[in-house]
Amino acid sequence: MSAGKQVTGYVLACTSTTEKECLDRMLFGTNKLYGDNVLKIRKGELVFLININSDKLFGPFTADSDGEKNIVPEAWKGRYPYQVKVAGDNFGSIRNARKVLKQISSTWREPISPDNAAALVEHIKNPKSKVVFRNEQDDKPRRESTTLWDYPKQSYGKTPKGSNKYAGVTPAFIIYNMVRRYTDPGDLVLDPMSGSGTTLDVCKEEGRRCAAFDIAPPRPEVLQSDARKIPLADSSVDMVFIDSPYGDNIDYNDQAGNIGRLSAETDEFYDELEKVMVECHRVLKPGKVIGWLIGDQWVKKKFTPVGFNVYDRLCRHFETVDIICVARRGQTSNTGIWHNRALRFNFYLRGFKYLFIMRKTLPEKAAKRKKVSWKQYQR
Ligand SMILES: C[S@@+](CC[C@H](N)C(=O)[O-])C[C@H]1O[C@@H](n2cnc3c(N)ncnc32)[C@H](O)[C@@H]1O
Repeated sequence: MSAGKQVTGYVLACTSTTEKECLDRMLFGTNKLYGDNVLKIRKGELVFLININSDKLFGPFTADSDGEKNIVPEAWKGRYPYQVKVAGDNFGSIRNARKVLKQISSTWREPISPDNAAALVEHIKNPKSKVVFRNEQDDKPRRESTTLWDYPKQSYGKTPKGSNKYAGVTPAFIIYNMVRRYTDPGDLVLDPMSGSGTTLDVCKEEGRRCAAFDIAPPRPEVLQSDARKIPLADSSVDMVFIDSPYGDNIDYNDQAGNIGRLSAETDEFYDELEKVMVECHRVLKPGKVIGWLIGDQWVKKKFTPVGFNVYDRLCRHFETVDIICVARRGQTSNTGIWHNRALRFNFYLRGFKYLFIMRKTLPEKAAKRKKVSWKQYQR
């Protein structure tokens, strides 16, 4: 592999116990948590190996296969099934691997851009040379691990995700976190209320396919369709993400069928959203997940628990995986004037949204749930 060739780099990890097996087999592997990155590797791309005990970085290697599951199932006793075969006759190593990788990004587990991968090859060849890495830290949001999600901006990275000029645009980091946690590369993600297409842009960058619809599409890649009649086959989708209207608080468009023209104080609003839920359930594969983003309403001195009402309807069709509280930072009312009004007129500004993560029950589980356990009546 010549350092001048522009290819993405990947760092896989080993320990002092597994290092020998990696290098003897010329096979690197990881577990499900980081499997996503390995599955992205294409034959010919650059690969490095970090020993997390000795803090040594080995490389460069060239991927001799695409990243796949179970290339050698028995390697590492099956503990690291996401694998890539590598080649590299002249690989070297450097010490202080974490320090070097930190100059590139906050986490070495993300793919390394071609420029930085080439710079890393040069650095391993000549560790005393001064190499300038580009910091990739800002390119991706953090992977969330708690039920409180927060991010200061609507978008991230070098390419736009949706349009922050679109009223009600979704913060892209929410979709990024859903896509990374619940789908694999190549999976099909559906957003039936896509608006400016944030889901579409996130999916494109993460190597997922996306079916994006809206009742009034503002860009050509988003197709026109009513979310209550999704033009997809039953059980064909790997994940649904939906940021629905929260009532009639935003004037999206005048299109007939726009659910955002119904007040969240009426049953009709929830009845129409429930039709969307039924369609999402139909097209979702069993066992797969839907993420539904929604916020409450406080209008004209009246609070409406839109989130609880939507959750109640979701529970009629799906089982709950978890409920996430998403901090609302970028909204237009996040100003001093609104802060003063909230104090003067004794109300609260909406500070969070709910992200309901729900699952389409597997058929065998659904059947079990229907069985009555008679034991409790045997007294
Ligand atoms: C909160 S916005 C979605 C924002 C989008 N995720 C983005 O990032 O730009 C809600 C969207 O629902 C759409 N919508 C309302 N009723 C609909 C329906 N019946 N079918 C499909 N889309 C609908 C609106 O046009 C609006 O674009």
